[in-house]
Amino acid sequence: MVKIAIGSDHVGYELKPEIIEYLKELGYEVSDFGTYSSERTDYPIYGKEVAQKVAAGEYDLGVLICGTGVGISLAANKVPGIRSVVCSEPYSAKLSKEHNNTNILAFGSRVVGAELAKMIVKVWLDAKFIGGRHQRRIDEIAAIEANNDEKFEAIKVANSQKYADR
Ligand code: RB5
Repeated sequence: MVKIAIGSDHVGYELKPEIIEYLKELGYEVSDFGTYSSERTDYPIYGKEVAQKVAAGEYDLGVLICGTGVGISLAANKVPGIRSVVCSEPYSAKLSKEHNNTNILAFGSRVVGAELAKMIVKVWLDAKFIGGRHQRRIDEIAAIEANNDEKFEAIKVANSQKYADR
């Protein structure tokens, strides 16, 4: 069963139970890493926690909610191996998995309503990474993350002629 780690700050707190319920209905195993009340807190705490669980392979994917989705996604993206996307519409959510192999989806409770959030989540979960030319771009991102310019250049050069498509 696919395991999903979910987290939010206090602004995303009210939307989170509905998303957890929906994920369970879809057949996913879900663990909630907080926050557990509407008391004011800091979104990086939950972005970091969920991202570390996903990066460590303890969970397959992550879902994060804050006011806009931006802060919590930025925090998650600081964890090596994480590719987190903020989405407020399904098209980017779908393509972010197909092309960028995102492993965390973030959205804002001040931006999207519950039904749109569910649609975005569903489309993202159903989408599959295409690989091919998209893999080298992800490898390039990983080289940037590792601060390895040599590796970045090597991937760039080795693959520059390999793919005729976009
Ligand atoms: C909290 O005020 C708000 O900044 C947070 O929920 C989020 O929107 C940050 O990106």
